[in-house]
Amino acid sequence: MLEVRGLQVRYGTILAVEHLDLHVDAGEIVVLIGANGAGKSSAVNAITGLVQQAKGDISFAGEDVCRLDAAERVRRGLALVIEGRGIFSEMTVRENIELGAFAKPELRGSSLQSAIDHIVTMFPRLGDRFHQIAGTLSGGEQQMLAIGRALMSSPRLLVLDEPSLGLAPRIVDEIAERLVQLARDSGVTVLIAEQNAALGLNISDRAYVLQRGRVVLQGLASELRSNTDLMRVYLEG
Ligand SMILES: Nc1ncnc2c1ncn2[C@@H]1O[C@H](COP(=O)(O)OP(=O)(O)OP(=O)(O)O)[C@@H](O)[C@H]1O
Ligand SMILES: [Mg+2]
Repeated sequence: MLEVRGLQVRYGTILAVEHLDLHVDAGEIVVLIGANGAGKSSAVNAITGLVQQAKGDISFAGEDVCRLDAAERVRRGLALVIEGRGIFSEMTVRENIELGAFAKPELRGSSLQSAIDHIVTMFPRLGDRFHQIAGTLSGGEQQMLAIGRALMSSPRLLVLDEPSLGLAPRIVDEIAERLVQLARDSGVTVLIAEQNAALGLNISDRAYVLQRGRVVLQGLASELRSNTDLMRVYLEG
């Protein structure tokens, strides 16, 4: 579904991603693990079109998407939940969810309503707070809202940047469970950038470990989980 080859991302003279080869197959949950500054956000932002890559190829569902802007990638089924969530804090939960349908102008009336109902069934807390101003939601609820909004575009590949950021373990578990459910029951493919290695390896099928913009370790999550010493060395580096 996603094939990234030789990706390089720079900000002026700063090389954030030096060289990244990565692929995600349909139905998989893949995690990109790394310490602060490893280049996770730069990688997923380039994949989804929020930053321009300096070098490399990105193909999604068999098409080269390198020159498409982020909105066009969303239209093709490649959605991102950015780091820090990016919800519109002055707007209500409902309005935020509806904005997620921007890429689907055909969603109107009853079809829009049933898409919203689907999100609320997945995250009942959003239903309870439907008319609340989003900025007053808890961090966990805001993360659920950001995920719900992204799902309104019916993505084939959902990319999440640090969904666990600043959240209590119980909420992290709840969100993790929803993501696994999404992949299993709704056939959404998932790519997660995550600093929390334990979380990432628990919910994913495969993982890449990024260190200073390069993949230093990759494999099945089940194998990496049992290699905790090695993981610790990489994540400290
Ligand atoms: N807009 C920018 N301008 C200049 N340098 C940047 C910019 N964004 C990121 N960087 C640098 O690129 C490198 C990779 O940053 P990036 O945000 O991709 O890492 P990350 O793995 O997502 O880290 P974190 O876990 O803290 O979110 C860092 O050295 C960072 O300082
Ligand atoms: Mg980041």
